[in-house]
Amino acid sequence: MTHSPSSASRSGTFKVGGNLEISRLGFGAMRITGKGIWGPPADHDEAIRTLKHLPELGINFIDTADSYGPDVSEWLIREALHPYPKGLVIATKGGLTRSGPDIWKPVGRPEYLLQQVHKSLRNLGVEQIDLWQLHRIDPRVPADEQFDAIRSFIDQKLIRDAGLSEVSVEDIKAASKFFKVATVQNRYNLVDRTSEDVLDYCTAQNIGFVPWFPLAAGDLARSGSILGTMAKKYGAEPSQIALAWVLKRSPVMLPIPGTSKVAHLKQNVAAAGITLSDEDFSALDAEGRKAFQSTP
Ligand SMILES: NC(=O)c1ccc[n+]([C@@H]2O[C@H](COP(=O)([O-])OP(=O)(O)OC[C@H]3O[C@@H](n4cnc5c(N)ncnc54)[C@H](OP(=O)(O)O)[C@@H]3O)[C@@H](O)[C@H]2O)c1
Repeated sequence: MTHSPSSASRSGTFKVGGNLEISRLGFGAMRITGKGIWGPPADHDEAIRTLKHLPELGINFIDTADSYGPDVSEWLIREALHPYPKGLVIATKGGLTRSGPDIWKPVGRPEYLLQQVHKSLRNLGVEQIDLWQLHRIDPRVPADEQFDAIRSFIDQKLIRDAGLSEVSVEDIKAASKFFKVATVQNRYNLVDRTSEDVLDYCTAQNIGFVPWFPLAAGDLARSGSILGTMAKKYGAEPSQIALAWVLKRSPVMLPIPGTSKVAHLKQNVAAAGITLSDEDFSALDAEGRKAFQSTP
């Protein structure tokens, strides 16, 4: 297979739920909303341009949520890309309510989750959601009730595959008694290794691991830091090296860098073409772990 130099296809492929094939480097659609992930974006036309660029850059995995805006992110995806190109996989989420900018409160009652699935179907203009993820397990509702609701969404063919977000290995095992967990979306990057055990479990079980906030690199992105040195060596930006590192970390890793700007999107996609040597990968890994351990 030949790849254009700026195509996400250079990141390799993964089959979500064992059947929906995607390029591993995807797009996170949280940043195409307003400040505080609330309301419309500051520049609507640039957000639409960014989304319209996805297919030509080889991106066929978009992550969104009912709560981004709320609704705004799903509406913009539909406005920019409907009718959807063949092979595009749109993953959305439900289970977090919004009562203001930067406020996220979980509600996991089955009737609420069902309502949100129906809303996302309508917002996105699809008959079935490719991948629906429980944004958070609501601690005030028995987890089994939430997992059982998800199983019923699959049975009713409202959603094709299901995933979880911000969960432990124990949570994944508990949910797996109700449905096949296709993806897990936890915060993960070079300097945030809290979910290392979850990533290892997903790798062993061939569950897609979607690291959110993949670009965060803290002090390691400074010039003169290890990311800065590697960036120079590979003729790249520190953020691209951070992405290349997560991509090499595991074959189930599905990073979804988020941006509202075409220029940043192109830069992020170009990271798919950077292959770190084993030695450089290990050096970054060691520095990342050190930075994580010294984080208060
Ligand atoms: N499951 C969850 O609980 C959860 C939580 C948060 C996020 N998410 C998902 O994960 C996705 C990614 O997370 P994230 O957006 O928090 O983190 P991120 O992708 O690591 O970082 C996004 C930030 O970096 C900037 N950026 C992107 N590309 C850049 C580039 N090439 N150069 C410089 N700056 C750049 C963006 O601003 P510009 O718009 O200015 O480019 C934005 O402020 C989200 O879009 C969302 O889909 C999930």
